[in-house]
Amino acid sequence: MIDQETIQRIMDAARIEEVIGDFVSLRKRGANHIGCCPFHNEKTPSFYVSPSKGIFKCFGCGEAGDVVGFLKKHEHFTYPEALLYLAKKYNIEVREEEQTPEQRERQTERDALFHLSEFAQHYFADLLYNDEMGRAVGLSYFHSRGLSDEIIRRFGLGYCLDEWNAFTDHARSNGYSDTVLEKTGLTIFKEDTRKSYDRFRGRVMFPIYSISGRVLGFSGRILTSDKQAAKYVNSPDSDIYNKSRTLYGLYQARAAIAKANRCFLVEGNIDVISMHQSGVENTVASCGTSLTVEQIRLIKRYTPNVTVLYDGDSAGIKAALRAVDLLFTEGMRVRVVLFPDGDDPDSYAQRHGSAALQDYLATHEDNFVMFKTRVLLDSVKNDPIRKAELVKETVDTIALVPDLLERTEYVAQCSSLLGVPEEALASELSKAINRRRMGAAADTAAAVESAATVIPQADAPVPQPDAREKHLVELMLNYGNHPITLKSDSGDPMSYPLAEIIVNDLQDAGLAFTHPFCRKIFDHFADRVEKGLPLEASQLTTIDDEGLRQFAISLMVDTYRVSDKWREKQIIVPRIEDNLEADAAEAILSFKIKFLDERIAENANRMRQAKGEHEILALIEEKKGLVERRRTIGLALHRVIS
Ligand code: CTP
Ligand code: MN
Repeated sequence: MIDQETIQRIMDAARIEEVIGDFVSLRKRGANHIGCCPFHNEKTPSFYVSPSKGIFKCFGCGEAGDVVGFLKKHEHFTYPEALLYLAKKYNIEVREEEQTPEQRERQTERDALFHLSEFAQHYFADLLYNDEMGRAVGLSYFHSRGLSDEIIRRFGLGYCLDEWNAFTDHARSNGYSDTVLEKTGLTIFKEDTRKSYDRFRGRVMFPIYSISGRVLGFSGRILTSDKQAAKYVNSPDSDIYNKSRTLYGLYQARAAIAKANRCFLVEGNIDVISMHQSGVENTVASCGTSLTVEQIRLIKRYTPNVTVLYDGDSAGIKAALRAVDLLFTEGMRVRVVLFPDGDDPDSYAQRHGSAALQDYLATHEDNFVMFKTRVLLDSVKNDPIRKAELVKETVDTIALVPDLLERTEYVAQCSSLLGVPEEALASELSKAINRRRMGAAADTAAAVESAATVIPQADAPVPQPDAREKHLVELMLNYGNHPITLKSDSGDPMSYPLAEIIVNDLQDAGLAFTHPFCRKIFDHFADRVEKGLPLEASQLTTIDDEGLRQFAISLMVDTYRVSDKWREKQIIVPRIEDNLEADAAEAILSFKIKFLDERIAENANRMRQAKGEHEILALIEEKKGLVERRRTIGLALHRVIS
């Protein structure tokens, strides 16, 4: 276990905008950072990160939490895993106990798969440099393909010996079970005899990493020119690896993608590595599948701009057309670079060098409308009917472009390429756009209707708290540590943290919140006041009670969002903190009045049912006291407000 002091050091070092910034492209806006939410699919950012409060919140899907909550949700880490991840990121030393075989047994299944994959990656990478066969066969192969030792290390490349069970036996002797070996796919067990053998024997190994750098699986390339065997063999999907949701090279490329605000998409593993070595580090490939929607959404976390770099052969063009359409449908801004027939980015870089590669990329970029038009025009030749079809198809594609200026530009380009007057294209285009609008309207109506029938009834929601109660909680959560100056009994001004004043004042008056979450939050602060701890809300955002956590966070983000929005529009709304003292006083007093009003109403109720004279007299006495207190507080409130 990690001790409390280390946890504190980790949490102190972790900056939420940096941690989330590794996964989501964030822009600064006022005191916050915003980006597109990684937890649902969206085109306009509604995902807010507040560095000062250490929390994130998506106003689209409602997901919210602190830095640990983010890692748990996004990376599927457990609490200790998230802490270890942060410790690693911020170079904080954490001593972990050695694992015994029994402890390893107890680990969850996923953990075991992660563990074995990492173990395998170390083993394969080690052979490449420290084993005779590894050097002679594996390393010399990578060198022959022009890869430097530095890039080989950066991508964790390795070699699997050309023996039936070399890896499997090594893993077994290190305590890994056959079950786990089979689940990762590293070992294959024959169905009939259950005889085992290494899936990747005799291949050079490309580990596939998650965004956070955990090994999920492998891709292995054959070294012989055996036409019968597959050139690349990949890990099968498992509990930790899903090839349609993984991009090769994203771990190494993500920072460069966010920085360049563009992602290059290539076809092969070696293409990715070659591009990186040539200084184009914002490059990824789909992992042994044709591009999927999930992979596109991974890219979208970092940038909306993608350049597709595919081979110029007919298979490459076909794949590029498909990728381009899919990318476009997912709202990406797409460009295409085709390499000369027979070349891929790797072979081009190896033959002509990095400078030539970069130059080629810069000069052969096509926007996707032009790319499609050019490619299709090639197949039309001089057939007028097919040409008319092509014009229609081109116009339909342009109609999908949201930006008017961009559309106008495409019309001009296509007009000269297709030899059709701009006016003719433009009039076709406006028809196509209208058709699309009507279709979209129908789609929306249908979607609304079906959503209404499909959405299951949620559990009974927790009722909203009374507004005055909620406001006090809001003040404690957001400004608990803010000093408020009061006159002491001797008349000297004294400063107290806001939350302490609220806690003491309500406790002295014998008042309590009625809403369950508000009461818990009050108790949290009361506890900290008693212990003399800083009056922060941080512990609340990590809490395990999901409902309470969401409630607390919603009160923490709503205030800052509203005030920032107004300010952007140049509408001056006084921020709560500009006038905190009066606001707090008003909140406390109105809460007390509400409380007294309830007591007075209750008193009237009992009066109606009262029997004996004694009881009635007691109730009248009580009412006098309540009304008097209410009057005093009402006057005080009046002074604060006016
Ligand atoms: N691929 C695969 N399985 C195969 C063949 C290909 O998964 N049997 C995937 C690999 O990710 C490969 C990509 O498709 O990198 C492109 O295949 P190809 O163009 O044939 O290979 P290259 O990337 O050019 O590989 P190399 O340069 O190593 O020959
Ligand atoms: Mn190649």
